[in-house]
Amino acid sequence: MQTFPPHRLSVAPMMDWSDRHCRSLHRVLSRRALLYSEMVTSGAVLNGDRQRLLGFDAGQHPVALQLGGSEPAELAAAAKVGEDWGYDEINLNVGCPSDRVQSGRFGACLMREPQLVADCMAAMAAAVKVPVTVKCRIGVDDQDPEQSLFELIDLSAQAGVASFVVHARKAWLKGLSPKENRDVPPLDYPLVHRLKRERPDLTIVINGGIPDLDVSLAQLEHVDGVMLGRAAYHEPGLLGQVDRRVFGEDVSDIDDFEAVELYKPYMAGQLASGVHLAAMTRHMLGLFHGLPGARAWRRILTVEGVKAGAGLDVVDRAVAAVRQAVDAREARTLEVAE
Ligand SMILES: Cc1cc2nc3c(=O)[nH]c(=O)nc-3n(C[C@H](O)[C@H](O)[C@H](O)COP(=O)(O)O)c2cc1C
Repeated sequence: MQTFPPHRLSVAPMMDWSDRHCRSLHRVLSRRALLYSEMVTSGAVLNGDRQRLLGFDAGQHPVALQLGGSEPAELAAAAKVGEDWGYDEINLNVGCPSDRVQSGRFGACLMREPQLVADCMAAMAAAVKVPVTVKCRIGVDDQDPEQSLFELIDLSAQAGVASFVVHARKAWLKGLSPKENRDVPPLDYPLVHRLKRERPDLTIVINGGIPDLDVSLAQLEHVDGVMLGRAAYHEPGLLGQVDRRVFGEDVSDIDDFEAVELYKPYMAGQLASGVHLAAMTRHMLGLFHGLPGARAWRRILTVEGVKAGAGLDVVDRAVAAVRQAVDAREARTLEVAE
């Protein structure tokens, strides 16, 4: 059986979303997908509370740490800290368009400074043994993507980077919010496909607007990997088919009911160590997407899950509500069939 590397399907770095609890939920749905952390700035890694910023459950591998920054020595030191904390890959953010990030001269505005990105990557690569990778846009503002994308990739490749995630649209740094910058600039998948054709030795992962596994599999005809962001977050259940459909493993899919059961021991452990239930259940709201009872599921978790001292009984009640709604629908379907 062919074995595929983890980057064949990854879940995107998403600030405030892809935190350690979210990743542990995604991990019970797929053993194989590569999971990215939220972006952490190199300064925070070096000076902040590392347990809070970098800690994660041992069962979460493979997991990549995304760094934000533009100072090579600082990024190298932060990468080393990330490696020591057990991350399997260190990624540099060259795609975030927020004002805060621009004033720090990192994120998407680095698309204008490809040599600086290459210097950062060379310093990081020299500091760690795990792979160092770049997540970028195809360009910013009035840049010509045919030029900006290839220049960024080529200079970083010369600096030793072998793997790139390309969010297949520009970022417009003036006038659009970060949210609009994820939807408004048009997607250019053919450019990313061409990048793979013309740089066949590099690992190219495509990102941006990919809604489901059917489209992911179609993309994998052209590139080495697909990164899902919002689709995986809003509908985590789709990850339950990834190991079989994307990684070709001879395993059963994980449905959303099973996922909750598999996640419960993790939740119990976190509750015992003082984590609030809502810190975990907020990432579970997209489970049972499209099933009758999904609304009751969300309502119970959001209303009861946030109460002080909320425990796993809230999750059990919410699951029971979905189960009841599903059973009721099945009973109605049977009645009609008879
Ligand atoms: C809430 C949110 C936070 C994000 N934070 C980051 C981040 O920290 N680093 C990053 O590189 N991209 C970040 N992104 C962008 C995603 O990684 C991804 O590139 C983008 O959502 C497009 O992919 P999608 O269409 O599959 O969601 C964020 C996206 C969202 C929705």
